[in-house]
Amino acid sequence: MHIGPIELPNALFVAPMAGVTDRPFRSLCRRLGAGYAVSEMVTSQRALWKSLKTSRRANHEGERAPIAVQIAGVDPVEMADAARYNIDRGAQIIDINMGCPAKKVCQTWAGSALMSNEPLALQIIEAVVAACAPLSVPVTLKMRTGRCDSERNAVALARAAEAAGIAMVTVHGRTREQGYTGCAEYDTVAAVKAALRIPVVANGDIDSPLKAKEVLRLTGADALMIGRAAQGRPWIFMEVAHFLSHGTLMPAPATRDVQQWLLAHLEDHYGLYGEQAGVRTARKHIGWAVHDVPGGDAFRQRMNALETCVDQQAALRDFLEELAQVHPAWPSPAQASALTPRPGQKTHASLRARPAANEPSLLRLA
Ligand SMILES: Cc1cc2nc3c(=O)[nH]c(=O)nc-3n(C[C@H](O)[C@H](O)[C@H](O)COP(=O)(O)O)c2cc1C
Repeated sequence: MHIGPIELPNALFVAPMAGVTDRPFRSLCRRLGAGYAVSEMVTSQRALWKSLKTSRRANHEGERAPIAVQIAGVDPVEMADAARYNIDRGAQIIDINMGCPAKKVCQTWAGSALMSNEPLALQIIEAVVAACAPLSVPVTLKMRTGRCDSERNAVALARAAEAAGIAMVTVHGRTREQGYTGCAEYDTVAAVKAALRIPVVANGDIDSPLKAKEVLRLTGADALMIGRAAQGRPWIFMEVAHFLSHGTLMPAPATRDVQQWLLAHLEDHYGLYGEQAGVRTARKHIGWAVHDVPGGDAFRQRMNALETCVDQQAALRDFLEELAQVHPAWPSPAQASALTPRPGQKTHASLRARPAANEPSLLRLA
């Protein structure tokens, strides 16, 4: 699998998710089998580049190559500047966001809203490609299937993007109007794949090794991108890779291995955010991870009251230590609900899909 001249170790990608796929989480996913990870989107608005949020998003310290940064915006000149700025800060691949339905992004016509304005979308693509080509940096595009059911223009836009020099296209099999509702469809992804010569990545609702294989079969895509299913289960990349190469399901990971992965993730996370923001933003990762395990909900409530890195880490270590004694292998969701029945319990998917309280709702329709 290549993006332009850059070779990737495999064709399993972590989806960019604002508020989730920061550098520590990307690194965790890559350690656990993902071949490629794109940053959360970085705004093209120069005035915000120096903000704490944007500079954290542009932090790639110790990150494995290739470093890929997603940029979002509506102004071709600004987007070209943003591409150059991020290349100066280490980006080796630039991804253009035309996939995000977030209100904040779409109100300014960025993200997936750009798919409704093909001329502007193309101007942006051309400007970013022109900025990156002299620096030998490939540009990729992430999009949805179209604005709504009656306007699925992914094939037309992808063809134009390829002609303009885009090196890879990712398609999330939903329209912008759908937000995250309904199911992803793969016919449009297959049509984009059939229409292009550059690599095409299938995205949307891939949440198990079997589903991954089915999406590959349905789309013929060159690579798969997984988002929400990696929240709390970053080892899904290992599981999918194993299934695709051996045709068998991997046994569940050892609980002590998961403990070690999660504690190492916390260290890295605190390193990027510091104590106060680090403890607060780590809660969602811990919550996702323990949601399906016996006693996970009660633990999450206790853990959410802790305010220091030391306390949060110790609580997680102890909880997983106790869990490992009863469940040496990471328990399946069925084991959790059998042992701790909770009427009206939220499904894992609904928890995964919920953004943190202080983040823009990426789930609402624009
Ligand atoms: C919390 C959250 C944040 C997201 N942020 C971005 C983003 O910054 N850029 C982007 O292109 N897509 C973003 N997405 C969309 C994902 O990259 C992906 O396309 C979508 O979740 C479908 O894949 P999945 O079903 O595997 O989750 C986000 C999705 C979620 C749930």
